[in-house]
Amino acid sequence: MELSINNVTKRYNKGKTTALSNYNAELTSGIYGILGPNGAGKSTLMNLITDQLKPDEGEILYQGQNISRMGKSYRERLGYMPQQQGIYQDFTGRRFLWYMAALKGLPTAKAREKIDELLSIVNLSKDADRKLGTYSGGMKQRILIAQALLNDPELLILDEPTAGLDPKERIRIRNFISTIAMNKIVIIATHVVSDIEYISKEVLLMKDGCLIVKDKPANILAKMEGNVREVLISESELPEIQSRYKVSNITSDADGIWVRIVDDKPQNKMNFRTVKPNLEDVYLSYFQ
Ligand SMILES: Nc1ncnc2c1ncn2[C@@H]1O[C@H](COP(=O)(O)OP(=O)(O)O)[C@@H](O)[C@H]1O
Ligand SMILES: [Mg+2]
Repeated sequence: MELSINNVTKRYNKGKTTALSNYNAELTSGIYGILGPNGAGKSTLMNLITDQLKPDEGEILYQGQNISRMGKSYRERLGYMPQQQGIYQDFTGRRFLWYMAALKGLPTAKAREKIDELLSIVNLSKDADRKLGTYSGGMKQRILIAQALLNDPELLILDEPTAGLDPKERIRIRNFISTIAMNKIVIIATHVVSDIEYISKEVLLMKDGCLIVKDKPANILAKMEGNVREVLISESELPEIQSRYKVSNITSDADGIWVRIVDDKPQNKMNFRTVKPNLEDVYLSYFQ
């Protein structure tokens, strides 16, 4: 499996907004975390990969073929969970999945089997006959993930899959995604580091429509080695530290306040101790 994004540029507003700029990436099977703040261009990229939008420049190839010319044979391989919850409030969960299965052209027997299996996987068997309008945010996200999986896609695109979920649900969804990722290209767009930190084969950091880093998490962290520090301070020192450094975490205990900072050369005589970087630190160093 191979998805190639070649020199893709996408503009809106008659060319006035460049949402994606000369984007290049080669993806093979595994989980890819597309990480960046709101407005970075993640959803635009997802819409291009799912062929809902056409690039202004460049092309996207799947197994060497331009996706815009593959039509049905591409859609059959694609599962897509969009960011916007345009969801049918009056449908029950089960009816919604039957409807999506019909749109995807699944045969009835296969659809029945898949729908039961997926309802169970996303933990909605019990609520399958309730209307979507009565679902919580987390339940809606889960039914949307289920519909994306109906056709056993080779290419699974999830746009902000944990939006609106509580921490327990986030972990559940993340674990679930990592168990279904075998022999698939899974692309997760998110601004939440923890959604992708431990499950991604590669992380793609996006800023202002540009790909700024594409690498294995371990390599990205290795480059930050030595730049993350902790220091114990008193409360009165906090404002100065915050104005001077990128602060990735603050915790207080009986001894005082532990501050975690990201900086390659702290200009301060304080007693900093170097700690192991995590992806939150990396995110902060690029985006604060
Ligand atoms: N349909 C649209 N029309 C005009 N501008 C858009 C449209 N969709 C997105 N944009 C703009 O393109 C940029 C990237 O947006 P988007 O791809 O939604 O980013 P993200 O998903 O990372 O938040 C933003 O500046 C956004 O305002
Ligand atoms: Mg988005």
